[in-house]
Amino acid sequence: MEEIKVIRAKTLKPKPEDESKLVFGRTFTDHMFTMEYSSAKGWHNPTVKPYAPLELDPANLTLHYGQALFEGMKAYRDANGDIRLFRPMDNFARMCQGAERLAMQPIDKDMAFAGLKKLLEIEKDWVPHSAGTSLYIRPTLIATDAFLGVHASDTYLFYIILCPVAAYYKEGLKPVKIYVEDEYVRAARGGIGFTKAAGNYAASMLAGTLAEKKGYSQVLWLDAVERKYVEEVGAMNMLFVIDGKVVTPPLRGSILPGITRNSVLQLAKAKGLEVEERLVSIDEVYETAKNGRMSEAFGSGTAAVISPVGHFYWKGEEFAVNGGVMGPIAQDLYNTLTGIQYGRVEDPFGWSIKL
Ligand code: PLP
Ligand code: COI
Repeated sequence: MEEIKVIRAKTLKPKPEDESKLVFGRTFTDHMFTMEYSSAKGWHNPTVKPYAPLELDPANLTLHYGQALFEGMKAYRDANGDIRLFRPMDNFARMCQGAERLAMQPIDKDMAFAGLKKLLEIEKDWVPHSAGTSLYIRPTLIATDAFLGVHASDTYLFYIILCPVAAYYKEGLKPVKIYVEDEYVRAARGGIGFTKAAGNYAASMLAGTLAEKKGYSQVLWLDAVERKYVEEVGAMNMLFVIDGKVVTPPLRGSILPGITRNSVLQLAKAKGLEVEERLVSIDEVYETAKNGRMSEAFGSGTAAVISPVGHFYWKGEEFAVNGGVMGPIAQDLYNTLTGIQYGRVEDPFGWSIKL
């Protein structure tokens, strides 16, 4: 593999003074990693260089037709001061699956991982130390052809940027209120919902904004065909505890195959819980939340890990799950998963990678 070039920043930014005040996605580190693709050279020119704006042609294909994918993962500082990643190759593999669907060039996963490790070696002091903080990692793949024909790009840029982030929850895990969206949809089967394509997030913005205005933190997405079956919650996967079983919608093409979702399901099984991947209708959510058969509802994702749902709003009515309080299964899964991520809890799965 081509050796990674390193160009050091001449001046370094001050590190955050108060790690508890970091706003997600606003503070970036001193360096970034980039690599380029052309059919003649393949993936080439892997470089760690100063964080800087990209220069893009106004006809850049990504800006017009949205050939763009991103990933999200984190680096965690453990009690010994070492830096750990959580299932990083799964993120790169998911980006490759997305690339195939968007007719983009899949990344060279080994070059990407080598680049990430080199970048983290240089930026290691940016991995925050306070409890619950981490360094959010944003790998991104964009098309770079300057061409207005509707045609897949021949050239691509892959880059990784880093942001130190605070603990997602300041005072424990606070259950959120969710608006059940039965007009707008995020993704349809056969489309690109299973990828982390930029376009999926564009499709979600309006509903998210309207829900916020009504006092809800996120929307619950329903399927695009019948507006009947639960898909995801905001930008997280959705899980329920119904009759004591962990239940989550199956991956049928419109849902992102979350790495946290997969980890939660494996952990739940290892803890002896029954797990069901099956369709869950919004009527079932309403009925079982009301009659108490549903004891918990929570989202799963890299940013928050587990985010309990306290209330849903649907068809003019707000109803609670478990009296609006976080349940014991979500709490236990959260403790174990974050324990593995920060190296506090034994990891029989081989998920936590110490650098
Ligand atoms: N669903 C969507 C739409 C997402 O953007 C994310 C974000 O990361 C997830 C689910 C959760 O995926 P993961 O657990 O891999 O972070
Ligand atoms: C997650 O990590 O759970 C997210 O939803 C990331 C988001 C910023 C797209």
